[in-house]
Amino acid sequence: MTSHVLILGAAGRIGQVLALAFANSGWEVRAQARKPLPAALVSHPKVRPVRCDASGAAADLATLGAAAQGCTAIVNALNSPYTEWERLALPLADAALAAARASGALLMLPGNVYNFGRELPALLTPQTPERADSSKARIRIELEARLRAAAAEGTSHPVDSVVIRAGDFFGGPGTGTWLDMALASKLDRGRVVYPGNPDLAHAWAYLPDLAQVFVRVAELRARQPASMRGHQRLHFAGHTLTGNAFMAGLETVLGRPLRMANLPWGLIRLASPVVPMWRELLTMRYLWERPHALDDAALRARIGAVPQTPLPQALRAALAAAANIAA
Ligand SMILES: NC(=O)c1ccc[n+]([C@@H]2O[C@H](COP(=O)([O-])OP(=O)(O)OC[C@H]3O[C@@H](n4cnc5c(N)ncnc54)[C@H](OP(=O)(O)O)[C@@H]3O)[C@@H](O)[C@H]2O)c1
Repeated sequence: MTSHVLILGAAGRIGQVLALAFANSGWEVRAQARKPLPAALVSHPKVRPVRCDASGAAADLATLGAAAQGCTAIVNALNSPYTEWERLALPLADAALAAARASGALLMLPGNVYNFGRELPALLTPQTPERADSSKARIRIELEARLRAAAAEGTSHPVDSVVIRAGDFFGGPGTGTWLDMALASKLDRGRVVYPGNPDLAHAWAYLPDLAQVFVRVAELRARQPASMRGHQRLHFAGHTLTGNAFMAGLETVLGRPLRMANLPWGLIRLASPVVPMWRELLTMRYLWERPHALDDAALRARIGAVPQTPLPQALRAALAAAANIAA
């Protein structure tokens, strides 16, 4: 029997990749977005657009609720602008939760590493204590706490949910990743613009691999007995790379030597009082000064071998996607 999935934020960075991954795996995809979907989704026979605003008025939420009916899974791939998390992140998450509660679907969330705060340890497991020492950490902790609470026994309509936590995205068709904003922004001049200490490990998530993980987890959860359901957190390790290893990967792909240049944090700090986005970026700079990797043991125990595209192949595809966007 065909399964249905509702992707919220299907025109976004991970949303587009998820929609294609589910559709290419035989799922019927309902793809929510406020704006028209990208051509690759519009032309896919398994993708149906759902045009509404997940943060919107009652009519939009009714459209969302109707789209959720009959779905096995809902993915909350929504993301408010970086400068608007205080106002929008939790209402958007609540809209996704309401749709899952009304439909009985599994709610899936791409998590990030913000929950662990500014002093995050080098290896992050699903049991690593959370630390609400920044606004964004506090919001993500609260968001996931709402999922845990909604799954609790005794709740009138418990919601089955899973957070799949990952590092910085790269390799999708969307812009605004660290790869296109910084690292690859000066490749034409032979430079890799790196935002931190290039000797420290940093967690990256190649989006096509991460999307496959969502599909596999959704397929397994759909077959699980109700007694095994609830709220779960899994970590996707992706590619853990120092800046030097990232640059070496780019050199292999491009076939020429590159030089490392620093992201001009001083300039970003100077302009931050008047450029709200830069102010937000500054608050997250610590992630480039703390080595960190995600431990995927629980994910492997759940799905077996985790998809991992070899780095040169992933970087080649990511650079091609970024060039397409720039063209
Ligand atoms: N980016 C990363 O490196 C990364 C890493 C780990 C985890 N994550 C998590 O993955 C999730 C998705 O992130 P992403 O980077 O893929 O998202 P994104 O591309 O920045 O945004 C996804 C979609 O959210 C919708 N959206 C934005 N503002 C909205 C608003 N005010 N009201 C309603 N909808 C709004 C937009 O859809 P429309 O305009 O089409 O409606 C947008 O396409 C987030 O939870 C994020 O924290 C991201």
